[in-house]
Amino acid sequence: MSLTIRCFRPADLETLRRITVEGFDGIAIDQHVEEKFGVQAGRDWRWRKARHVDEDVAANPAGVFVAEEDGKVLGWISTRVDHETKKGRVPNLAVDAAARGRGLGRKLIEHALDYFRREGMAFAVIETMVNNPVGQHLYPSCGFAEVGRQIHYAVKL
Ligand SMILES: CC(C)(COP(=O)(O)OP(=O)(O)OC[C@H]1O[C@@H](n2cnc3c(N)ncnc32)[C@H](O)[C@@H]1OP(=O)(O)O)[C@@H](O)C(=O)NCCC(=O)NCCS
Repeated sequence: MSLTIRCFRPADLETLRRITVEGFDGIAIDQHVEEKFGVQAGRDWRWRKARHVDEDVAANPAGVFVAEEDGKVLGWISTRVDHETKKGRVPNLAVDAAARGRGLGRKLIEHALDYFRREGMAFAVIETMVNNPVGQHLYPSCGFAEVGRQIHYAVKL
């Protein structure tokens, strides 16, 4: 079995949407909003989370990387680069549940960090939810230092 990290292709989109929606069950902000206020505008949190994939791909297609093994897409990471501030950002990262715990998440992060370096970024940021223990373990072990905590609020209009 050979694992590769490669650039995104449009044919990956549906699989990335599926992996992301499945992976973010329980940690998606829009899911928490929905639990409090119900489905808004006829668009549930799954639809909203899947749209993040589309947004990431549209915003920086050259910075979307996919983990593939024997022709099967198992995970992905998205990035943004800001050449003015030299800040690289990882908006989304997900690995298929069946392929977790094998180092794919770490490899995807390392690939994104190498991409940021090539793009001349000076530092990189990533976020995780307080109820996501994997992120809180994985990101520091990839060299990220905690710099702050945020609280998400929502109000029904
Ligand atoms: C986060 C995610 C991408 C990691 O992918 P992965 O391929 O399993 O990652 P890796 O195998 O490289 O590393 C996972 C690490 O978390 C650790 N881990 C697993 N479950 C854990 C838990 N409950 N608590 C703490 N650490 C945990 C593993 O031991 C491993 O650490 P190690 O390399 O030091 O042994 C994957 O879990 C996922 O898609 N989760 C759902 C979506 C998500 O949370 N995305 C990130 C949002 S911030």
